[in-house]
Amino acid sequence: MQRFEDLLKLFQTRFQQAHFPETPATLYEPNNYFLSLGGKRIRPVLCLMGNELFETLHDDAYAVGNAIELFHNFSLIHDDIMDNAPLRRGKTTVHEKYGLSTAILSGDVMLVKAYDYLSKVQVRYLPQLLHLFNKTAAEVCEGQQLDIDFQHLSKVALEDYIHMITLKTSVLVAASLKMGAIIGGASEGNQNHLYQFGRDLGIAFQIQDDYLDAFGDPSKVGKQAGGDILENKKTFLLIRALEVCKGEAAEELNRLLESNPVDKVQQVLKIYETCGVKEWANQLKQQYFESALLHLDAVAVVGTRKQPLKELAHLLLQREY
Ligand code: IPE
Ligand code: IPE
Ligand code: MG
Ligand code: MG
Ligand code: MG
Repeated sequence: MQRFEDLLKLFQTRFQQAHFPETPATLYEPNNYFLSLGGKRIRPVLCLMGNELFETLHDDAYAVGNAIELFHNFSLIHDDIMDNAPLRRGKTTVHEKYGLSTAILSGDVMLVKAYDYLSKVQVRYLPQLLHLFNKTAAEVCEGQQLDIDFQHLSKVALEDYIHMITLKTSVLVAASLKMGAIIGGASEGNQNHLYQFGRDLGIAFQIQDDYLDAFGDPSKVGKQAGGDILENKKTFLLIRALEVCKGEAAEELNRLLESNPVDKVQQVLKIYETCGVKEWANQLKQQYFESALLHLDAVAVVGTRKQPLKELAHLLLQREY
């Protein structure tokens, strides 16, 4: 299997095409704007990797990769509305730049285009791929709703947080790999091991995302610093802090959750630091990372073929953006 960077180049060459008509520009230009901001393109490349783990790369993996990346970008345009996010990939978010109605519609039509690409795959795999894509898309919506529901709760259990991020983030990572494996003609057992690798990797990926939202370098992350804190998101950082904070710090944290002082982010970060959430973040991430690797070990192909996936997994967990 080729390495991530090489497959990324292959994917980018094909993805850099016009996905939308020219008119009405008021609808399509925002999508071109958003796609031009880049992004890591992890999910479509995972689809290529899932394919290449079992067979030589098939054109269908690119078509499904397009579908996955457009679905992902659609979900981000709408996510930024839900999260009141002003910045994404270092630039103004679609709803801030073009208005709410346009952001909703441009996102909608991007989702439609995703299905358009998906519908082009060979007929023998279409039902299976469509079923997995639909199941995944519905789960992402479920996860996003739980994420919003949790904003209004004063306390969320770690188990419920993991369930929420599994749905909103990790199932798409898992499905990307599995769709590639399906196109590669993998056995059901191998498809499922790869899916479970992706699911645990996706959980670790979202843990890192939550960590970076609080502690990352905003110029690298490209999002508003402390956006999750401002929105009272029930990230594991907050869950852990509420668990271990005692006395005054706990009272302070609960007070901050119910108010919006101008220095809310700084105050919450200070409490996070004193509660040792950074160390715990690493532990939690590591736990899911190791579980992911066990699932990858169980995929029945020679170890050397799996090496690029292992490398990528390492890279994703150390990422700074
Ligand atoms: C952001 O995903 C949304 C999450 C699920 C955390 P990425 O970090 O993959 O976003 P881009 O596409 O690289 O910008
Ligand atoms: C978003 O999670 C997950 C989806 C878009 C489905 P976040 O809200 O944490 O993602 P970012 O931080 O805005 O990229
Ligand atoms: Mg968000
Ligand atoms: Mg969100
Ligand atoms: Mg985030």
